[in-house]
Order: sequence, then C-alpha cells, then structure tokens
Amino acid sequence: MSGAGGGALPGRVVVSADPGAVAEAAAGWLLDCAADAVGARGAVDVALAGGSTPAAMYRLLAQPPRRDRARWERWQIWFGDERACPPDDERSNFHLAQNLLLAHVPIPAAQVHRIEGERQDLAAAASDYAAQLARDCPRGPGGAPRLDVVLLGLGTNGHTASLFPGDPSLEVAGAWATPARADYPPYERVTLTFPVLAAAAHVAFVATGAEKGPAFAGVVAGTAPAARVRPLDGELRWFIDEAAAATLHG
Ligand code: 6PG
Repeated sequence: MSGAGGGALPGRVVVSADPGAVAEAAAGWLLDCAADAVGARGAVDVALAGGSTPAAMYRLLAQPPRRDRARWERWQIWFGDERACPPDDERSNFHLAQNLLLAHVPIPAAQVHRIEGERQDLAAAASDYAAQLARDCPRGPGGAPRLDVVLLGLGTNGHTASLFPGDPSLEVAGAWATPARADYPPYERVTLTFPVLAAAAHVAFVATGAEKGPAFAGVVAGTAPAARVRPLDGELRWFIDEAAAATLHG
C-alpha cells in the first residue's frame, strides 16, 4: 500500500471509525448544509455522487430520523456524473440514488435533474444538462452555476466524478458538463467539469477503505484529478474512515 507520505489532504478532514460512521457523519453534514441553504434562499441544489460508497449514506437519508429532518420539497437534485446506460440499469448512478433515496422522499420529479446517459449522443446529453444547470442554479465564482452541495467519490486511480487521469475532460473550461472516458466499464460517461466543482458552496469527498491510499497519495502530491477540486469560495471536506486515514500516515 502506498501511503501519502504524511501529507495532508486539502480542506477539512473528518475521520470516523468505519464506513457506517462515515455515512452518518456525511449524512448529518449534508442535512445541515441543506437546511442552511433552504433557510437562506428557500432551495438547495445538491449534486449526488455515483459509485458504491454513497449507498450507505443514501439509505440513512431515506429513513427516520434523518428523513424527517429535511424539507425535501425544496431540494433540487443533480448528479456529478453518469455512465452511458439507461436509467434503470444497475450501473446507472441515477438508478442507485433513485432506489436508495429518491424513491423514498417527497422530492417532486421535476426537481430531479438526471443526466441522460442512455442517449447515443452524449455530447448533446452533456450540453442539455449544462443548460439546465445554467438555467436553474444561481451564478457562482467564475460565472459557473453554484451548487450548494456536491458529493464526490474517489477512485483508486485518483479520479472523481468521471474526471479520469489523462482524459481531455480534465481540461474542459468552457462547459459545465462534458462527455468523458473512464478506464473501466462503462467507459463512456458524462461528468461535471472542474469550473462547476470550483464554484460550489460545499464540496465533500466520501471515501473509505485502505484501498484509497494510492488515490490519497495522488491528491496530496497534486497529481490526481481529485486534487484539482478546489472551491473558489466554498468549503472542501473529506469524510473518511480510519482505514483510509491510516494510509495518510504511511
Ligand atoms: C462513478 C463515480 C466515481 C466514483 C468513484 C468511487 O460514476 O463511478 O461517480 O467517481 O465515485 O469511482 O467509487 P466507489 O465509491 O465505488 O469506490
């Protein structure tokens, strides 16, 4: 296991004992951020993460007591990325969120903004999604849409959302969403771009397990795509477990 050489992750790091406790900490934080945004402007724009790690958090949010803490009718749901597959496909990030969270809370369907990963033309799917973001979200620093909360995962190779090492999507500056290519299937993706992640008010990575060690090393060294997530006028947090945290001291 390669450690991060004792370096620090950028932003605030919240270490919990195990993946279950990480899910609890991240869910509580998300609910606090959402309550603040709803209190301040009557709505909250949240971008959900894909991958497997957020599943525990989505389950917690879908059940009492946490479900009863949210004013769900004020939530606008977005996605950090999507895989090229239909929305009812097991691999779909929308499918995960729908099954574990969205089907169990009263968010009006019109407030769930899905990336249409089933379309042949993913460039058109990306530009339609970007247009929705630009239309519905307030403007943030740099002129990008300002999401209140962005949840992100961390791949073992340092990718986040579908921003993969070496992919041209990393350099997209003039669009809020773009087609992208992963290095494992489904290869074709659509992802938010760095300018949107930089414009968000609250960004949190949720990452657990010692297998994230090499990715942490890439973030600490500044070489991983995830290292390029730097809010211009917002907070960056890491919700990690002790097994993942131990790799930072290697
Ligand atoms: C996806 C992602 C991706 C994911 C990481 C971590 O669509 O695959 O959004 O960035 O969050 O690969 O995935 P795990 O949570 O499964 O480790």
